Amino acid sequence: MHALRVLSVAAEAFPLIKTGGLGDVVGALPAALAAEGVEVRTLLPGYPAVMAAIGDAPVVHAYDALFGAPARIRAAHAAGLDLFVLDAPQFYARDGGPYAAADGGEWGDNAFRFAALSRAAADLGRGVAAAFVPDVVHAHDWQAGLAPAYLHYGAGARPGTVMTVHNLAFQGQIGGELLDALGLPWHAWSIDGVEYYGAIGYLKAGLALADRITTVSPTYAVEIRTPEGGMGMDGLLRHRARDLTGILNGIDDVAWNPAADPHLRAVFDATRMAPRERNRAALRSRMGLAATPAAPLFGVVSRFTWQKGMDLVLQSIGDLLSGGAQLAVLGTGDATLEQAFVDAAARHPGRVAVHLGYSEDLAHLLQGGSDAILVPSRFEPCGLTQMCALRYGALPVVAKVGGLADTVVDAGVAAIRDGVATGISFYPVTREKLGWAIGRTLALWQDQDCWHRLQAQAMVTDVGWRNPARQYAQIYRALAARR
Ligand code: ADP
Ligand code: GLC
Repeated sequence: MHALRVLSVAAEAFPLIKTGGLGDVVGALPAALAAEGVEVRTLLPGYPAVMAAIGDAPVVHAYDALFGAPARIRAAHAAGLDLFVLDAPQFYARDGGPYAAADGGEWGDNAFRFAALSRAAADLGRGVAAAFVPDVVHAHDWQAGLAPAYLHYGAGARPGTVMTVHNLAFQGQIGGELLDALGLPWHAWSIDGVEYYGAIGYLKAGLALADRITTVSPTYAVEIRTPEGGMGMDGLLRHRARDLTGILNGIDDVAWNPAADPHLRAVFDATRMAPRERNRAALRSRMGLAATPAAPLFGVVSRFTWQKGMDLVLQSIGDLLSGGAQLAVLGTGDATLEQAFVDAAARHPGRVAVHLGYSEDLAHLLQGGSDAILVPSRFEPCGLTQMCALRYGALPVVAKVGGLADTVVDAGVAAIRDGVATGISFYPVTREKLGWAIGRTLALWQDQDCWHRLQAQAMVTDVGWRNPARQYAQIYRALAARR
């Protein structure tokens, strides 16, 4: 019997293409699953960065017309990943991001760009590449949501299907009149099929039709079944509760290892913390913050969106500064938030600093040089920044929602006494509660012995992929056994 084979389908995979945690997770899962005896191939769209990495890789399947134009599936190994790449220039050969042009406008044909990806996944699922016939097709987020639908409505034997929700806020919808153009049969237009409030819902289709559903933390798996957290899908998710599992993400512990991180000024670990001070100093000087080693340094690494509560950080700058702290922010996104951070930095030179943009390098230095990392998300399916923070001894100050609630143990009196506290959490997610959490963090900072114990505890938190990979493997095996 061959090893279990899984085709993972997504719009991003680090290090080839990433806009957020989805890319990290899809990029890290294959190696973690290999350790569980699962052979993973990842299907990605042939964006320019992906095509450049695979060169002239062999074609394993060709379409005369895939939604109107020729396309090929290529097989390649690049950036440590075993890949299938959908080489469809009419959809992917363009400058800009995976979902939007450089000016921020979403590509008008996203529905077809990602229907094409899902169609290719389904065809691979049915064995068009004889060298790799998967037992399971694993679809990530709405961009891959139609893959379970194409498999469900197609004829003959099919592999098992898993739909993973990384973020329920992005659902992917298109007008119902396009059912035929998408190659879906008329009977797919139903409440048990792809129909969603009068449109075709990509994520909805995946949630309705995949054999199993997972999401990226146990708490988010509960939240999305409530009207408050369900974003319109809670009814369906309650209905499918028996097939829904929350599996916490991990982080790549090779890329995120403070003991061997080329982005740091000085490497360190839980038993050698003194060099960390040099990262604090380097971060201050790089960001243009005053050289005041006694001041606690708060960091932020985030997309600037409503989800991430960045407006609450702006409103809490007064609390930070009156407590003698400094703030270093790295992020990009909403233009209003970007401008507001630039203005705040101009108002408080040397005490508040912002770097707009995406920088892997600075993200690592921020984790290795900040004393605390703020993550006041209004909702957070899992969150990876707080896990990096734990590993790098930057105490996470987090909203107690989703995966943040599952990864950070609040420094309450009992948790400190029992040696299990790893950060500070607060709820509900309001400006007042964030201010209160900042106040508690500043109070803890006054007791440096206690702070160091919290850091040491944070740094031994298990944020690896081993346990999560085991849980995914279990789901795959159960599906493969059923066939
Ligand atoms: P989300 O996927 O919702 O943005 P996560 O916490 O799951 O949130 O993942 C975010 C990932 O992107 C982390 O690896 C984080 O370090 C990274 N990241 C976010 N913003 C930036 C940025 N401006 N520069 C570099 N890395 C960033
Ligand atoms: C999404 C979520 C984030 C999660 C990531 C990876 O981007 O917003 O919470 O960590 O996916 O699963």
